[in-house]
Amino acid sequence: MEKKIEIFPSLLGANFLSLEDDLEKLSEIGIKTIHYDVMDGHFVDDISFGEPLLRKLFTSHPEFNYDVHLMVSNPLKKLEDFYKIGAKKITIHLEAKHLSLNLIQYLINQYPKLELGISISPETDVEETFYLLPFISSILIMSVVPGKGGQKFIENSLNKVQVLKEKRKELNFAIAIDGGINDENIDKVISAGADHIIVGSYLFKILNDKEKVVSFLRR
Ligand code: DX5
Ligand code: ZN
Repeated sequence: MEKKIEIFPSLLGANFLSLEDDLEKLSEIGIKTIHYDVMDGHFVDDISFGEPLLRKLFTSHPEFNYDVHLMVSNPLKKLEDFYKIGAKKITIHLEAKHLSLNLIQYLINQYPKLELGISISPETDVEETFYLLPFISSILIMSVVPGKGGQKFIENSLNKVQVLKEKRKELNFAIAIDGGINDENIDKVISAGADHIIVGSYLFKILNDKEKVVSFLRR
């Protein structure tokens, strides 16, 4: 089943010295969902932000949905922590912990309101996700090595998206893509079949140019 194409700004690309300004701009231009990258300094080198900032965002910017991307070594513990503070859309990495169908089913039963996503890093074959696809809300293809914004898009990610587009003809998951997306490659990402397009550094770079942002978001 096809989904609506949506662009999710990745908070990691925001200017943290004037975060409120950036959030107000995103709100003004009608952004509905913000991508929230959690990095633990272990699964990936950097540490980004965690529960305290998201709690504040839920209070000060309840107009947004938050799409939590857990790049952490212990995703189950963190999934529970983030769910408890209000996150309903959470993605965990296949590489972080071996995910079994039993575990996915446990999460679905335990957290019926959770929109569970699975992500794969560039080195993981998309075929490894096939057995999970009937049970998840979304699959996130990493088009850069997880851990940092501002990297170059890995072209081979488009093949993974195309394979998933075929696979979901009879299924009902969204296809998300994350990393290195800008005005030069967004159209081919959409043509390949991605529905949720995560954009960090490019979007925040043009955020002051309203005309450019509006035309970038009009997809
Ligand atoms: C990278 C993060 C991305 C990142 C994307 O590990 O998961 O969400 O913020 O940023 P850009 O668009 O700059 O690649
Ligand atoms: Zn991300």
